[in-house]
Amino acid sequence: MNGQIIHSAITTHSPRIGVEATAPDFTRGLIAGIRLLGEEVRASRPDAIVLMSTHWITTFPWYTGSHAVHEGTCVADEAPDLIPGIPYRWQGDPTLARAITGEIASLGIATGTNDSPHYSLDYGTVVPMQYLDPAMSVPLVPLGTCILAPLEECLAVGAAIRRAAEKTGKRVAVIGSTSFAHRIERGQDKWPPQSFMDTDFRYIEMLTSGRIAEAKAWLPDYAKAVVAEVGGRVHATILGTMDETREQYRGVQHGPYGQSSASGNASVCLHPVH
Ligand SMILES: [Fe+2]
Repeated sequence: MNGQIIHSAITTHSPRIGVEATAPDFTRGLIAGIRLLGEEVRASRPDAIVLMSTHWITTFPWYTGSHAVHEGTCVADEAPDLIPGIPYRWQGDPTLARAITGEIASLGIATGTNDSPHYSLDYGTVVPMQYLDPAMSVPLVPLGTCILAPLEECLAVGAAIRRAAEKTGKRVAVIGSTSFAHRIERGQDKWPPQSFMDTDFRYIEMLTSGRIAEAKAWLPDYAKAVVAEVGGRVHATILGTMDETREQYRGVQHGPYGQSSASGNASVCLHPVH
């Protein structure tokens, strides 16, 4: 089968949902949404999931995780009481990880691969992955967020992931682990301001109706308006995996839009319409 991006999605990773047994009631819908997103993605039988996390922050280069196996225990450094240790073990996909960094390098952008045996996955990766793929059956390629990258570069990196999928012949789901609105406050069950939520709803509706060019054009202003997590870099990269000049897209929101410390969160999944 031809290599392609089969899903481009956004999902959430609030540390409140890191351990399901102790997750507060108001987050249950978010967990259900991630599970439903995982069912949709796994039903398409992807060769790999590329999971871009807002909590694997890199400064200068872009990195992929090129481990043959990702195995360890995830501790949330910012909230070790909420996530004291989630054991994980996913197969990696070093070929895809290197193909992605190869495509990024071909743009003249600093990039590298991470195969340190001492590395532990961040909670922004493990929290959604444990619900997306509870059996840990889908190979995983983690992708960090380069905090110095302008949004245009993030879009270009998304397109590089697309080319890497096409050139390696792999069917790839690319999932961004990020909030929408993100002017966070103390108070775990606080909602974002109504105007932020209305802006998020407009953005999510734009995505699910497949208006990708419109979303790309609006993204810089949207990200500023809702104080998007990491400046909207994960949203930009996910948008960049879609080429609206070649394909049409449709999508769905799985589960509710939900709050966590005044951030807005949802699981949204798009796929090309053939
Ligand atoms: Fe976060």
